[in-house]
Amino acid sequence: MNQDKNHLTVLDHPVAAHLVTRIRDVNTTTPRFRELVARVGMLLAYEATRDIPTQTVKVTTPIEETEGFELQLPVTVVPILRAGLGLAEGVMQLIPQAVMGHVGMFRDEKALTPVSYYEKLPTQIADGPVLLIDPMLATGGSAAAAIDLLKSRGCTDIRFLCLISAPEGIEKLTESHPDVPIFTAAIDQKLNEIGYIVPGLGDAGDRLYGTL
Ligand code: PRP
Ligand code: URA
Repeated sequence: MNQDKNHLTVLDHPVAAHLVTRIRDVNTTTPRFRELVARVGMLLAYEATRDIPTQTVKVTTPIEETEGFELQLPVTVVPILRAGLGLAEGVMQLIPQAVMGHVGMFRDEKALTPVSYYEKLPTQIADGPVLLIDPMLATGGSAAAAIDLLKSRGCTDIRFLCLISAPEGIEKLTESHPDVPIFTAAIDQKLNEIGYIVPGLGDAGDRLYGTL
C-alpha cells in the first residue's frame, strides 16, 4: 500500500464518528439516512478541498475595501450513480457553484465487477479539481473504473470521497491510481463473501432510496 501520508485521509472527528454510527444503524429510516449521508458529504468535501486553487479578489465591506479570496472555477462534483447522489448532495451544499457531472455504474452482483451505463461530464472538467463521490469503496472496482474514465477525459486532479471503505478497496485504488487521494469517513474490517463491507451499512443505494 502507498505510504504517502496525503494519499489516504480518514475523517478524525467526533461529529463524523457520531454521524457514521447513526448511518450504520439498521433502524435509521430512509429520510434520516439521506440527511445524515449528506451531512457527512459536507464534512468530506471540506477536508478534500483544503488545497483547491483560489484567486485574490477585492471586496468592499461596510467599513472599507480589502482583499479576499474566491474559489477558482471550475470545481466539478461527479457522483457515481446511484448511491453517490446522496453524498454529493452535501458536497454541493458546501460548494454550490460547483458543476456536476454524472457517471452511472453498478456492480454485477456475481462477478462484483462494475457495469457502466451512463456518462454525462461537463466539457471543462479537466480545467479544475474533480471530486468523485461514492459512499462505498468495497472491491474498489467501481471507483477505479470511474477514475479511468475521468483520466481518459483529461482530468489530472481527481479526489475520491467515500463514506466507508474496505481495506481491499483502498489497496486496489492505491495500486491502480496512486495519484488520486482518498477521503473517507471510516475504514471497516473487510468484505464478506458476497462483497459487502463488514460491518458497513448494507446496500447504500437501497438505504438511500428505500428500494430494500
Ligand atoms: C455500490 C456503491 C459503489 C459500488 C462499490 O453501488 O455505491 O458504486 O457498489 O462496490 P465496489 O467497490 O466493489 O465496486 P451499486 O452497485 O450497489 O449500485 P447503486 O449505487 O446503483 O445501488
Ligand atoms: N455496495 C454497497 O452498497 N454496500 C457494500 O457494502 C458494498 C458495496
